[in-house]
Amino acid sequence: MRRFLVLGSGGREHALCWRLAHEAEVHCTPGNPGIADDVPCYGIPLYDVEGIIHLSKRLAPVTIVIGPEDPLISGLADNLRAAGFSVFGPGALGAQLEASKSFSKDLMKKHNVPTAHFETFIEVNAALECAKKKTAERGGVVVKASGNALGKGAVVCQSFAEAEEALTQFLVEKTLGEAGTTVVVEDLLKGPEFSLLTLVNGYEIYSLPIAQDYKRAIDGDQGPNTGGMGSYCPSTWVTPDLIQSSEQQIVWPIVHALKASQIDFRGMLFSGIMVEDGKPYCLEYNVRFGDPETQSIMMRLTSGLAHAIQACAEGLTIPPIEIDERPAVSVVVAAEGYPKNPKKGAKIWIPELERDTKLFYAGVSNHQNQLVVSGGRVFTASAVGRSLSEARDAAYLLARGIQFEGAWMRSDIADLSSATPSD
Ligand code: AMP
Ligand code: GLY
Repeated sequence: MRRFLVLGSGGREHALCWRLAHEAEVHCTPGNPGIADDVPCYGIPLYDVEGIIHLSKRLAPVTIVIGPEDPLISGLADNLRAAGFSVFGPGALGAQLEASKSFSKDLMKKHNVPTAHFETFIEVNAALECAKKKTAERGGVVVKASGNALGKGAVVCQSFAEAEEALTQFLVEKTLGEAGTTVVVEDLLKGPEFSLLTLVNGYEIYSLPIAQDYKRAIDGDQGPNTGGMGSYCPSTWVTPDLIQSSEQQIVWPIVHALKASQIDFRGMLFSGIMVEDGKPYCLEYNVRFGDPETQSIMMRLTSGLAHAIQACAEGLTIPPIEIDERPAVSVVVAAEGYPKNPKKGAKIWIPELERDTKLFYAGVSNHQNQLVVSGGRVFTASAVGRSLSEARDAAYLLARGIQFEGAWMRSDIADLSSATPSD
């Protein structure tokens, strides 16, 4: 059986390992206690490049899948390719798309990708002037740290005072360190968002079913931005025409541009898209699977993922992936204090799983044979159902059965009766 090595330890990597293990022999490092229930894990951290290369030599996988952005940005894919392995995930040059907002916005502009108008600054007074002008024009403005700020770098400002605060923090107080020393100030767009996850083999693309992410912490899309509090798939409001125009205007130009710059991009190109007046605008690119979009998508893939990922890594034509008709819903169970200051150490009890459900582990570790909370997003409870509401009920039943002190979740994930189709 073909052997895969998946690198990472979150809910996204758990979902990838679980799905791939239906079709291949899968190993994972560092993994987590839930991933270890499904596939062998080795505990080698991703910053230990020598350790990862050593493990890869021992396992000799046909493909190594790199899950999170940090190792991609620091060039782990390049290290592994140089050591002779076939890798799903771009090298450091391709990962610039996620590492630097000013790089990706410049590339979008150069290749006519529809995106919010923007300017880039390193000096606070010029940035403030631009923010003032944009706020007057559109009733708000968006301030983004150019570097990788782990989801804390984009501030949607409804007034100039908010923009002033964000710009002062990033450029003067340097609250995000190096990541905030260059900022992008851009027009505020208004409309629903969706995530387009596209497999790329260097020159061809294959998009996965559209998933909807819920970025804000509190019901009704209120509260601070998080890594994502839940998802569902498919997003039925995203029409085939909208998907096609997004691929034409947002995905293809970047694939061509990377190829023309001799950047051999083999991996995932994740486009965060906002729809204003019926037209798609690219908010950002990521160079890895989305979390928790991936959990819902993996619940719906029936076969072909392993072949498709291997083909991308080898630069070969991407074969089709089969998809279950049934919708999927994923609910994130978070730790007390997330996203600001998640409290760690609480003991966890988990319920029995029902059919068509799966519990993906993220911020969980094993302490003397007891599961304990070790991160902000602790689990993703996922389910498929004959309808979205059936999948939703099953995912919530599972999520609410998880017990640890301070556990909380949003209660409106995939509740289309109460929400606009937005973030
Ligand atoms: P980003 O890190 O660029 O994806 O931004 C994080 C979130 O901020 C997005 O998912 C949007 O909800 C919001 N956002 C980013 N850019 C804009 C924009 N130009 N207009 C309105 N909202 C935005
Ligand atoms: N859920 C959004 C992300 O993975 O960036």
